[in-house]
Amino acid sequence: MNSNASLISVIHGPNLNLLGTREPEIYGTETLDQINVTLRQEASTLALGIEFLQSNHEGNLVDHLQACRGRVQGIILNAAAYTHTSVAIRDAILSLDNTIPVIEVHLSIPGSRESFRKVNMIEDIVDGRIEGFGSMSYLLALKALSTLVAKRG
Ligand code: DQA
Repeated sequence: MNSNASLISVIHGPNLNLLGTREPEIYGTETLDQINVTLRQEASTLALGIEFLQSNHEGNLVDHLQACRGRVQGIILNAAAYTHTSVAIRDAILSLDNTIPVIEVHLSIPGSRESFRKVNMIEDIVDGRIEGFGSMSYLLALKALSTLVAKRG
């Protein structure tokens, strides 16, 4: 990988480590590792660098978002359940001051499920959202992000 390549950080929130076995009727049967392998292949095709973080802990996600500043050129974020609850993750995204495009991703369509999933703490501050395509949501987000990153130069 060219060391000048833009770096994309893919951030997976709580319980996504269990993909493959967790509610497969909603989230599919692909594991997180399989999703990340596919993303790594696509990133290579798009000449992008890519890194992955999964955490079940809100503070780790906040720490990681803060550490993205000045270091990565794009973020793909599935904040999972914290999407619906976390002011701290919202504030961490805001603290990036629009220096990094952030694409929100969901495997399912949270707004079409239980009413508490209709609350979304980040929808108005992200650069785009892709949801409902299962693991393909991540791939579509990576493609979208590559064009945003290229535009920003
Ligand atoms: C999810 C949807 C959230 O409501 C849920 O808490 C998740 C996964 C999705 O990818 O569809 O953990 O973010």
